[in-house]
Amino acid sequence: MNLKEWIGKSETVSDVATATPYAAFSATLDRAAERPPAGAPLPALWHWLYFLPLYRQSEIGPDGHAKRGGFLPPVPLPRRMWAGSQFEFHKPLRIGDAITRVSTIHDVTEKSGRTGPLVFVNPDVDAAPLADTLGTIPAQLGARALDPATMEYRGRSREWVVEANWKIVVENYLECYHCPVAHKSFSRLIDVDPDAYRLATERWTASQFGPAAEDGRDLPYQPVGPIRASEFHYVWPNWTLNAFPGPPNLRVLVFQPLGPDRTSTFVDGFWAPGTPDEVVEEITAFGVVVGEEDNALVESVHRGLKAGLVEQGRLLLGGEHLIQHFQLLVHDALHLSR
Ligand SMILES: [Fe+2]
Repeated sequence: MNLKEWIGKSETVSDVATATPYAAFSATLDRAAERPPAGAPLPALWHWLYFLPLYRQSEIGPDGHAKRGGFLPPVPLPRRMWAGSQFEFHKPLRIGDAITRVSTIHDVTEKSGRTGPLVFVNPDVDAAPLADTLGTIPAQLGARALDPATMEYRGRSREWVVEANWKIVVENYLECYHCPVAHKSFSRLIDVDPDAYRLATERWTASQFGPAAEDGRDLPYQPVGPIRASEFHYVWPNWTLNAFPGPPNLRVLVFQPLGPDRTSTFVDGFWAPGTPDEVVEEITAFGVVVGEEDNALVESVHRGLKAGLVEQGRLLLGGEHLIQHFQLLVHDALHLSR
């Protein structure tokens, strides 16, 4: 069967933006589970609460989805995954609105990956690629022996929950003037002097570059390898790519909001092939120390803000312009969802 015959196939589904899914999802996010009145706007992405697929039991395939061959092509592979989406919000949907979803298949491509054959079904060939979000970061990483394609996954080193709002967690990540005070060992390894520590932003990313300190005294570990600086890249809205001095290493740290007061985080480590276990363990352990220092800090800030101690803050644009950049992205996202 030629799967390309599915290109151009279209599906239209109607629904009503009712109040109960809104209230149920609010409860999931630990917010008041009240059914909003007609006309209340839906936050961005909450359209996913509607148009849920409904199929008779006898029409469901072994993977729990509808049997293939309807709207989606009958790909003869065992699993299906969502690979990515892009959104443009023109105005919010409102409770009570009659809503319509139109889906069209624009492309079907067969490829081969490490796990075997793959089929990509693309409902929008005009969508901007992930590369547009990452900006120049992949090229920068490649130029410094940090090309992710050359790295090897060495496991998830840590999963933990921070008792703080995700926005506080991200803001803490985005500045290092707290480093000399909060991160004593990090500040011996990296030159955190504002004159040496470089900050840079692009449309969706914010980066920090810290050269390895020169005096080399009392270091938390001896960095051996081509990477001579730390670099921390934040990609809107919640993931980061981090390298410490030493062998080529990239540690992916993700911040997932669990509600207004809690954030779940994890670290996945990618290393140059052949990096000895003891080096991976030593640098990973150092990352845990820095992470725990940050946890204590953000949880304390969260408690202070929640207590109403601080009415408003003021940004120091010399050391905090990455936070300003983040605040603007948050502002834009909230503004567009209104
Ligand atoms: Fe920190």
